[in-house]
Amino acid sequence: MSEKDTTKKLSTESYKGVRDFYPTDLFVQHFIFNTWKKAVQSFGYEEYDASVLENSDIYKAKSGQELVNEQTYTFIDRGDREVTLRPEMTPSLARMVAARKRELGFPLRLFSIPNCFRYERPQRGRLREFWQLNVDLLTKKPSARYDVEILTLVSTIMKGFHAKDSDYEIRVNSRAFINALYTHYYELSAEQALAFQKLTDKKSKISAEEFAAEYAKLSDKKLLDVNDSSDLTLMQNMPEVKESLEAILQTIALAKHEGITNIIFDTDVVRGLDYYTGLVFEVKDTDPQNNRALFGGGRYDNLVDIFDGAADENSISGIGFGIGDVPMQNFLESRNLIPAYESKTNVLVCVMDEDETTLAYADSVANALRVEGKNVAVNYTSRKYQDNVKLAEKLGVRNIVVIGEKEVGEKKFEIKSL
Ligand code: HAM
Repeated sequence: MSEKDTTKKLSTESYKGVRDFYPTDLFVQHFIFNTWKKAVQSFGYEEYDASVLENSDIYKAKSGQELVNEQTYTFIDRGDREVTLRPEMTPSLARMVAARKRELGFPLRLFSIPNCFRYERPQRGRLREFWQLNVDLLTKKPSARYDVEILTLVSTIMKGFHAKDSDYEIRVNSRAFINALYTHYYELSAEQALAFQKLTDKKSKISAEEFAAEYAKLSDKKLLDVNDSSDLTLMQNMPEVKESLEAILQTIALAKHEGITNIIFDTDVVRGLDYYTGLVFEVKDTDPQNNRALFGGGRYDNLVDIFDGAADENSISGIGFGIGDVPMQNFLESRNLIPAYESKTNVLVCVMDEDETTLAYADSVANALRVEGKNVAVNYTSRKYQDNVKLAEKLGVRNIVVIGEKEVGEKKFEIKSL
């Protein structure tokens, strides 16, 4: 090895798109996780977990081309198996539910906060590793009540952070409804319908002209808008569209009745994942600098079935959502909703001398405080009083005990609050 190689410093930067968590960062993350957990546990959701490694097949079936072809970290293991670092949790959850379908009790309410990996361009609100709260409700008999419970949970989570209703919007749509429109109004083939769905999904990221040009290749029908009364009447009068449209309108009415005022019917919300079949929704931060979706979710009727064969009367339908820690933190930072850092260490014991008697007394003081239930760190290196105060401040510890000649002689000590 040349001299140059041995002296070359390694970079202190982490891998692109992932984060290091120093104690102050973990404090924020735990604040977010704890607030999430408190909200979902209050509705009876139980925590589950799975491995970050999955067989690649489980995403290929129904997660959607963009996620599978462009965003997964996939590799071949030493036994020639294709393995993927989970980009999302829903397929793992569906696999787990299918595996224990007979033993589990339904309606089943589950949540998890896994770290997920997506090979995305790191940008505000999106990184390559993120933690995602997953909340899912699995039932044998789907109903609008369950859909509304999931929407209510969105509100409960946001209230847990002291967010105002005007800080975000819950934009909802229905896959069943748009699929009916694709076939019976736009008259698209299955292939064209998928292309239209993908085009709609990226509508907010491209210009109006680009969208119009792409749309013209698929259909010459006027684009319908549910928030336009004559378009709405036209859709309500189409027998093949009516049922799914009435269902989503009923869900919205029920949600409003439950006090969710910031819910909006938006046919541009189609979601990129293929497994959704009914209600789909996303939560948008109203702060324009946080333009990426905060929550994304929906109902999936056939995902569990892909693990246990054909659909039957015991089919399990799910509804749920995911929310990332990265956009959540941006949302909270924009509104000053993150509390100031506080160390879990209550007291820093410092010494003015390094002789054995002083150090032993410092230890006994620390132990006595620990017996009282306090978390105590000891600095065995003697420093000036002011330097110890500065150290405690850097560490975020709010109290110090200084052990010097006087304290050792009198066998006394004082806890000073900073
Ligand atoms: P998704 O829409 O792909 O849905 O992601 C849901 C949320 O995860 C996003 O709104 C965002 O908060 C967060 N997220 C996604 N990608 C990133 C990223 N690269 N960096 C930071 N945050 C990100 C799903 O994943 C579905 N499996 C959710 C679900 C659960 N549907 C039903 N149950």
